[in-house]
Amino acid sequence: MTHTHTYYITTPIYYVNDKPHIGHCYTTTVADAIARFQRLAGRDVYFLTGTDEHGQKVEKSAAAAGVTPQQLADENAAVFQQAMTLIGASNDDFIRTTQPRHEKQVQAAVARLIASGDIYLGTFEGWYDEGQEEYVTENAAREKNYTAFNGKPLVRAKEDNYYFRLSKWQPELEKFLAANPHFVKPAARMNEVLGRLREGLQDVPISRTNFSWGIPILDGPGGTPGKHVIYVWIDALLNYTTAIGVIDGLAGTAPSGSQGRNARYWPADVHLIGKEILWFHAVIWPALLMALGLETPRCVYAHSFWISEGQKMSKTLGNFIDLATLRAYIDRFGLDALRWYLLTQGPLRETDADFSYAKFVEVYNADLANGIGNCASRVGNMIEKYFDGKVPPAPADPVFHFGPSSPPQTAIQTQPQDVASALESVFDWPRDTHEFVHKSEKQLRSIDLTGALLEGIALVGRVDAFINLTAPFKLAKTIDANPAARDQLAAILYSCAEAVRIASLLLSPAMPTKMAQLWKTWNCQPTPGVPLHELARFGGKHALQPGSPIAKGEPLFMRADAKEPAPKPA
Ligand code: MSP
Repeated sequence: MTHTHTYYITTPIYYVNDKPHIGHCYTTTVADAIARFQRLAGRDVYFLTGTDEHGQKVEKSAAAAGVTPQQLADENAAVFQQAMTLIGASNDDFIRTTQPRHEKQVQAAVARLIASGDIYLGTFEGWYDEGQEEYVTENAAREKNYTAFNGKPLVRAKEDNYYFRLSKWQPELEKFLAANPHFVKPAARMNEVLGRLREGLQDVPISRTNFSWGIPILDGPGGTPGKHVIYVWIDALLNYTTAIGVIDGLAGTAPSGSQGRNARYWPADVHLIGKEILWFHAVIWPALLMALGLETPRCVYAHSFWISEGQKMSKTLGNFIDLATLRAYIDRFGLDALRWYLLTQGPLRETDADFSYAKFVEVYNADLANGIGNCASRVGNMIEKYFDGKVPPAPADPVFHFGPSSPPQTAIQTQPQDVASALESVFDWPRDTHEFVHKSEKQLRSIDLTGALLEGIALVGRVDAFINLTAPFKLAKTIDANPAARDQLAAILYSCAEAVRIASLLLSPAMPTKMAQLWKTWNCQPTPGVPLHELARFGGKHALQPGSPIAKGEPLFMRADAKEPAPKPA
């Protein structure tokens, strides 16, 4: 058996008491594109997303809707699953925290931590708001003059709680973060974590007794459920391990079927999350894993937030970009165009990003309609016209020199208007395409997905520049009189088409459908299982084959008109 490197990527699991919106879709789309890129690079990928279904909020929403929490969870988990299908997610699994496979492993993990002393029973005392069924901090209580939300006095209440001994792990965590400066990304987020860590860690309550919609701790007589349910965050974080059977493996219980084999994906390569849940992932989660004796994930990547047309999205403003709106964009521009916009303009790095229709149209026209779309049809049309729709012969040496000092024998006559920009330029296609692919892979490794994708568009830009410089349509007019011009035209068009093919590989993780459409009309579907660096070798084994047909095909993207009103749900 050949050894392939595994790659495990996860998204947060989403709360089922909310409806999916652009934020949830964004994180899953980013994870999806990274997963597709890694598969293309030849890795054995496991991509997990799912839903977080326990907790008091779900219990309350269900009561308000007159259904059981499980019914509410079932309904909304299905809506999240549809959302993931809508955006084209290629997840290998969808975990729900109400699944027995998850619940039993969470109970096993907690039992293990109780046995090791990492979880202990303690007493919590504080101000309790009986109407709201919640504890109020000392500060908040003082501010409100010790009155509850309903005007009655706050009461002093006491309860037994299980605590996770987080404080004990402070030195280990500090050592771990110092040794792994790239554990949290981007760098600004790591600094936040380090700053807060310096304030010192306190033990965290990890159980609740004031509601019941959660996974019970088995501390009753004979290992039966007692009165405590596990705090939703501890339950939720463990999903990354339960989905692939890691806790089963720990307990020595042989996990059944595929789960057993999947445990080999641990530790996760990336937990992709939003910045608001960084603390849980960067501090509590590694400490829990250390306490369980499990390996820590390789990276927690916390992206920033989408805002909408310049405003923060909120329930009060009612301006969430919801599924219906996303669907309206997909109906007008196609799924791949929406993915492209999200992935290249989204809040992957430190700053928030604005979802704006005007920007969408601008990016759509520049990168897609006038970018890859136009370039591919330009090249396809010329091959159709001058070479009967068959890939022309490949040049023996696809290196082109332009400008005054170029060797006269290989110099191509440049058009006067191009001379200034063409000074001393060399197009060495094997070298240049290799560089784009190499840079793209490098950026992908540091989770700069946007950067990795933009290398594909930059390569398209280079092909456009080359076409403008060599003006093959003018050269074509001379071929009847000059047979050498025909060879030159073939060399130019072969190079353009082959470079576009390589660009399409780099663009495909964002736009799998459109690039597959291009591969079909150009007869160059990448062979599954062949890694990107081989597929992308200019003129290599997987290159366009001279003589093979390039059908004209539909344009990949129609130009958009910014004067049209923004897509709205029907
Ligand atoms: N259930 C927890 C996560 C548990 S993970 C072990 C949760 N769920 S959530 O439904 O609130 O989803 C939060 C995640 O949705 C964020 O971390 C982020 O990935 C995504 N987003 C929600 N709103 C967002 C934006 N406005 N912009 C970008 N992504 C955001 O927290």
